[in-house]
Amino acid sequence: MRVKIIGSAAGGGFPQWNCNYRLSRAARAGMSGVHSRTQSCIAASADGAGWVLFNASPDIRQQIAQTPELQPAADAPLRSTPIRAVVLTNADVDHIAGLLSLRERQPFAIYATAQVLATLEANSIFNVLDPAIVPRRLLAPMEDLAIRDADGHETGVVVDAFPVPGKIALYLEQRGDPSADFSSDTGDTIGVRITGTGSRGAVFYIPGCARVDASLRTRVADAACLLFDGTVYTDDEMIIAGVGQKTGARMGHIAMSGEAGSIAGLADVKIGRRIFVHVNNTNPVLDENSAEHAAVKAAGWEVAGDGMEMEF
Ligand code: MLT
Ligand code: MN
Repeated sequence: MRVKIIGSAAGGGFPQWNCNYRLSRAARAGMSGVHSRTQSCIAASADGAGWVLFNASPDIRQQIAQTPELQPAADAPLRSTPIRAVVLTNADVDHIAGLLSLRERQPFAIYATAQVLATLEANSIFNVLDPAIVPRRLLAPMEDLAIRDADGHETGVVVDAFPVPGKIALYLEQRGDPSADFSSDTGDTIGVRITGTGSRGAVFYIPGCARVDASLRTRVADAACLLFDGTVYTDDEMIIAGVGQKTGARMGHIAMSGEAGSIAGLADVKIGRRIFVHVNNTNPVLDENSAEHAAVKAAGWEVAGDGMEMEF
């Protein structure tokens, strides 16, 4: 089983188009140790030929352009793709907008929870993917669902989806009610356990998670690899940076640091490799020369970059 991190940044990417914060500036200037990143997506393949994407980011066209494995093979038909299916972990813009770029009457399958399928259904622009060509399938929390292509052939990638503490997508929040509680742990945001034909261990992909609780700790124990929500280093980082009013918690993202953070929360759990993904453009770990980056490494974590690949 091969797993490739296609995009390691959070919504907006790094640098973000309108961001003038020091980190985006450093990335634009090509400062050493500060690498640009595209938005949140990973890909998995059991046979090295067909690939299952996890999320479809607004950067999908660029991501395919820089990933030969996701391009049509030289001997393939005039219209073709090795992308067999897309599994969605929530309905955030950075996870579903890329579907619009995958039109062209090209068959593949979409897997998502009932809530995320309802969002696709409610927004008719997604009908550029005709469900007769691109079937939409329910990803119910259950044991081991074999991911199949549009024709129903197994890809060899197997997914076990589970709800995680999170929240509904930003654009689904009712306007004018800033005090409302938009948190959800019923499938608006999910994590996935990825295994497959011949795999020697499980990879967990959890790009959005508001809390590390006992059930999550138990679930990810013994993972070969955990790809986890690395949006913010400290909860109030976006406020301190002066770029926004929201805390990480308000956005459904646990901070890396602190007593209630993910590093502490997962410290005692046996995990082969732990890697932060979905890194926001305010997160100081994006600078490899920062004290925060050093602290994360010292705690046994890696910070994902685009193109990072693993086999398990
Ligand atoms: C998130 O991860 O919280 C969202 O992607 C934020 C957004 O919609 O920009
Ligand atoms: Mn996001």
